[in-house]
Amino acid sequence: MTAIRAVVRGVGHYLPERIVPNAWFEDRLETTDEWIRTRTGIERRHFAAEGETTSSMAIRAAEAALKDAGVAADQVDAIIVATSTPDFTFPSVATMVQAGLGLTTGFAFDVQAVCAGFVFALSNANALILSGQARRVLVIGAETFSRIMDWDDRGTCVLFGDGAGALLLDAAEGTGGTEDRGILATDLHSDGRHRDLLYVDGGVATTGTAGHLRMQGNAVFKHAVQKLAETAHAALDKAGLAGAQVDWIVPHQANLRIISATADRMGVPMERVVVTVQDHGNTSAASIPLALSVGKARGQIREGQLVVTEAIGGGLAWGAVVLRW
Ligand code: UT7
Repeated sequence: MTAIRAVVRGVGHYLPERIVPNAWFEDRLETTDEWIRTRTGIERRHFAAEGETTSSMAIRAAEAALKDAGVAADQVDAIIVATSTPDFTFPSVATMVQAGLGLTTGFAFDVQAVCAGFVFALSNANALILSGQARRVLVIGAETFSRIMDWDDRGTCVLFGDGAGALLLDAAEGTGGTEDRGILATDLHSDGRHRDLLYVDGGVATTGTAGHLRMQGNAVFKHAVQKLAETAHAALDKAGLAGAQVDWIVPHQANLRIISATADRMGVPMERVVVTVQDHGNTSAASIPLALSVGKARGQIREGQLVVTEAIGGGLAWGAVVLRW
């Protein structure tokens, strides 16, 4: 039996030059480097420079992924950008990336599922490839969360950072078995009853402003620990695989305690988890492609290995993707 698979051909990322250590917040808020490290695992994060935007970072990440793949931009059929911090209400960041890459063919659109955005975008890209609507898809996660922080709210502003990561997916023929390279299973969920746990208090149709991020961190934490392991297990079940076969968990990087609790519930030791939260903070939809790119650059993720990504964020929205690199 043969099957079409969406295979990762290239990966890349971009991080703004400015690195802000935890100590930066100590002068401004009642917080300490020690609290931030022990409660979250975060040590530093990158903040975009003035004039730097979600689209400009997404373009840099996309260029890096295309270079890694050895594929020219005009070979791309579709661009999906996962973001909650677009440059403008519209057009989409994805069309800005399309223009930035010099592309005049194909189609481009944004996906908004907050911190779970990249998992949702990957799942959509997979569906486009499996249905024959596109062959090569650039999937990008890019965020400028520093622009929606309330700098007086110590419970949120110490957590987030800016950046972008990108994957180039390419259609390839597989056997239909679990040894195939490419996306093997996806699992997506949302539950809007929990929308007040993590949201932005502004928007086009309400305040007419961008607003600031608000979070009941502790409540989100509890949902995260339970739902992330559930969705990762569900995706593995759909693929016909088990936790013991996983080479790398590449989780959404929000909090080291959530990352390790999820790995524990999946029966995967921390040596097989790609962790970047200490260097990037929580970059929302950008965190998984950033971690995939850094994980490959570190020599952790190698061709043929089984990777599970999982994420949860505002909505609540959550999900997981199982793929063989
Ligand atoms: O990416 C989308 C999904 N988001 C997440 O996954 C985030 C999930 N939540 C978390 O990561 C954690 O809940 C936080 C890191 C946000 C907070 O950690 P926590 O252990 O849940 O702390 P808490 O919110 O229960 O607060 C404990 C205490 C409070 O003080 P009191 O009320 O006990 O006196 C907070 O006011 O810690 C205080 N606190 C801080 N103290 C120093 C909150 N933020 C800070 C801070 N520095 N920056």
